[in-house]
Amino acid sequence: MPIVSVQGVSKRFGAVTVLDGVDFAFRAGEVTGLVGENGAGKSTLIKILAGAETPTAGSVVLGGEQLPSTTGDVIAAGLSVIYQELTDVPDMTLLDNVLLGNLSSRGGLTRRGENRRRAKAGLSRVGLGELDLRTPIRDLTISQRQLAEIARCLVRDTRVLILDEPTSSLPERDVETLLSVVRTLRDEGIAILYVTHHLDELFDVADRVVVLRDGNLVGDQPIGQWDEPSLVRSMLAKELEQAYPWRPRDVGEPALVTRGLVARGVKDTSIHADRGEVVGLVGLAGSGRTELMKAVGGVAHVVSGEVSVAGRRVRTGSIAAARSAGVVYVPEDRKAEGLVLDASVRSNIAMGDYAPVSRRGLLRSGVMTRRAQEITSKYDVKLGSVHQEIGKLSGGNQQKVIVGRVSEMSPRVVLFDDPTRGVDIGAKSGIYEHVFTLAEKGSAVMVCSSDTDEVLAVADRVYVLAAGRVVGEFARGSFDREKILHLAAGGSAVSEPPA
Ligand SMILES: Nc1ncnc2c1ncn2[C@@H]1O[C@H](COP(=O)(O)OP(=O)(O)OP(=O)(O)O)[C@@H](O)[C@H]1O
Ligand SMILES: [Mg+2]
Repeated sequence: MPIVSVQGVSKRFGAVTVLDGVDFAFRAGEVTGLVGENGAGKSTLIKILAGAETPTAGSVVLGGEQLPSTTGDVIAAGLSVIYQELTDVPDMTLLDNVLLGNLSSRGGLTRRGENRRRAKAGLSRVGLGELDLRTPIRDLTISQRQLAEIARCLVRDTRVLILDEPTSSLPERDVETLLSVVRTLRDEGIAILYVTHHLDELFDVADRVVVLRDGNLVGDQPIGQWDEPSLVRSMLAKELEQAYPWRPRDVGEPALVTRGLVARGVKDTSIHADRGEVVGLVGLAGSGRTELMKAVGGVAHVVSGEVSVAGRRVRTGSIAAARSAGVVYVPEDRKAEGLVLDASVRSNIAMGDYAPVSRRGLLRSGVMTRRAQEITSKYDVKLGSVHQEIGKLSGGNQQKVIVGRVSEMSPRVVLFDDPTRGVDIGAKSGIYEHVFTLAEKGSAVMVCSSDTDEVLAVADRVYVLAAGRVVGEFARGSFDREKILHLAAGGSAVSEPPA
């Protein structure tokens, strides 16, 4: 007996059909994976299940009854959603966050002891039972905050838990913790719907997987009947020939050079990236990958050391100075640092670089529109119109806009911090195709990713970082995955095979 059944659900925004007669069901005590390309309709389907969007046609049944029509009533009926972006309140304490919307009171008096006990019980179920309830949320790690959000759902007797790309903002070392919490909750009888672009996670936790393609449900099978190629084929309606089409390039003189760079999380780092080169930074979360990029990009304060571009010293700690030297940092957190979500796609593209769309300081509307149309079509962004709010694009399509607007500036040095976060497995190769073209046109590109294999697949050369230092450097011909992972994990001495 399914606990949730989606029956003929369609959703249109204006003339665009985003979901088209979707039918599927999921059960208590099972993890159901939901996959599909960027823009396939996954998040829209979740918003419908959460009562946050109304379907244009069809209906949803939850526990034998019609799904209530408001988010509050859906939560009360036992269905909770963990969205990609955290929804906690950083200034509040852990206790208050976990109880948000869950306070138990009697005769108007909040029952403090009872509430503390419930919060503790919820937190224990996600492995956070040891944390002090008075801790401010902002002092927790991202992973702890996400687990606390799950605890908040458990406190209110959630029977159905939906997770939309829960690992896309987690450091890789915390992914396993989240997956084990998911398994535990499944074993306790909760129905879980799990959206991800990381197919390996599904083979780890899912009991069945359903596939959406262009708003249609095109696959629904137990996990044992899927393998990676068949899942990819179902998602993309084609074979994925080559995930990352690396090709040799001419590498020129040094474009970026750092000497003895010291910044928060960066210790005495001297590196270079040359014209036409794609340099990978490999390191665990906390190794200093992001911090190094931010220091070079003028985003973070530099304590000492030098950054030079094309042979000239660049003033550090200034985004403007970095920009005018031709250095662009593309942050990993597009929501916080990259985009203005309630502005249009067109404005967001113009914000990257006003020069091509203005004359004598005035923005030219027609040019802005045409340029946005060109870039979105070149970078394969799925959207209704460039006048749409960028926040209404699917997550992966927002990422494509960022990559597009930067690539079109042809900067001397581009620092891509996890450029394929939230991007589907088919679109990743498209993004790297543009990265390679950028390098071929003479930019020096630096890239890191939470997926080390991805970096090794695309880079001409990699630096391995651990605890803020460069602990290894490898050219493409001599990439040694084992050795690189060992160094990244903090292993200094590598046992060489006997000669
Ligand atoms: N409020 C809205 N108005 C107009 N179009 C919308 C709105 N919300 C979503 N869309 C469109 O619906 C389509 C599906 O978006 P959705 O966010 O469901 O995709 P997704 O499968 O979650 O993709 P991703 O993997 O990139 O997160 C997209 O083309 C998106 O632009
Ligand atoms: Mg989505």
